[in-house]
Amino acid sequence: MTIRNYFPSAFLAAVVAASVFGGSRMSAQRPLVVPSLRAAMFVADSAKLYTETQAAEGAKVWTATCSACHESKDVTSADFKTKWVGRSLFELYEQIRTTMPDDGPGSLTRDQYLMSVVYIMKLNGLPAGDTPLVADSVTMSALKFELPAPPPSPIAP
Ligand code: HEC
Repeated sequence: MTIRNYFPSAFLAAVVAASVFGGSRMSAQRPLVVPSLRAAMFVADSAKLYTETQAAEGAKVWTATCSACHESKDVTSADFKTKWVGRSLFELYEQIRTTMPDDGPGSLTRDQYLMSVVYIMKLNGLPAGDTPLVADSVTMSALKFELPAPPPSPIAP
């Protein structure tokens, strides 16, 4: 069984996508490439990809489980951002789901893993909105982390 089959509905994915692609940021070519001026890691820097309720659930998971081994800087530091640039939300979710907690990989529910990803988004300064993040592999794979483009080199031709 693939994750795709496990999680539902193109409809939900479409709802999430609509919120991501909505408004003035809509772009057929590069829908999620919204370079940030801040040092934030997320492509859709201002996209509202999760709800406060989910973030609160994620904070509970973090406090109950993750914080035994992690400080929040483990998932907000420059090292973390550099490591995750170009990779997707789904990869992060899958990595956490299959490797964490370090002393019991896979021991949480899928929803708890998803909420921990949401909490990491919150820790990185992404805003909450009205549409919950759904654990849809296609949607989450399309959401990639990106760092701002480097400034032009002063010695470039
Ligand atoms: C028992 C200790 C322990 C617990 C509990 C734990 N982790 Fe980890 N985590 C580690 C260790 C050790 C590493 C680094 C080694 C590795 O990648 O396997 C790590 C690595 C990570 C990474 C990769 C960081 C990077 O730089 O890419 C993420 C993300 C992560 N943990 C998230 C979580 C989340 C979310 C939870 C709670 C659901 C959690 N961890 C719970 C020990 C733990």
